[in-house]
Amino acid sequence: MIEVALPKGRLGEKVYKMFKDIGINAKEIESNTRKLFFEDAENDIRFYLIKPSDVAVYVERGAVDIGIAGKDTLVESEADIYELMDLEIGKCNMCVCSPNGFTDTREGNILKIATKYPKIAHAYYGQREIDIIKLNGSIELAPLIGLSHVIVDIVETGSTLRENNLKVDDIILPISARLIASKSRYSFNKDKIDALINQLSTLKNM
Ligand code: PRP
Repeated sequence: MIEVALPKGRLGEKVYKMFKDIGINAKEIESNTRKLFFEDAENDIRFYLIKPSDVAVYVERGAVDIGIAGKDTLVESEADIYELMDLEIGKCNMCVCSPNGFTDTREGNILKIATKYPKIAHAYYGQREIDIIKLNGSIELAPLIGLSHVIVDIVETGSTLRENNLKVDDIILPISARLIASKSRYSFNKDKIDALINQLSTLKNM
């Protein structure tokens, strides 16, 4: 049995479609239910629906064999896992953004940064003295109401920025979904996991 941590939400739906396209089907997953685990008994595979930022935790600790996580959460968590495949979906950029009209002059007050990604923000600003405000969502509001000067966040279509009068100042890191494996469990299920990856990679050429 291969156990898979799927990220709950938009990305998870895209990933599940890829599994479906290679003939894996845990039918119940598509019904509107609060259930969090689903099985395709025929293919000996079980899916767990996990909060995206927690997928790497489940995989690192060997609670599942593999998982799908955004590169953003992998960099931020510094999880000790094998990154086996770029699924080339969920593409976006980790960016520094600020209100239209704002310029970071590097003078005056310490730069205040609102973000869900404190480690990525720290690494980006290096030795510079900054004040990081860790938030869990609606990051774009922070500079609009004076909680921060800038944000470090994901930009996908750019519509959240546009609708809130913000702009991209710099791109820190391109992001996409990665298939990751538990270091402790990979060796036991290597053949099955490698076969899955081979099948998933055929979709890239379609
Ligand atoms: C993410 C991210 C941005 C938005 C970017 O938020 O934090 O707010 O998506 O997407 P866009 O460029 O296509 O507008 P999410 O939807 O995860 O909600 P959150 O505010 O709860 O973090």
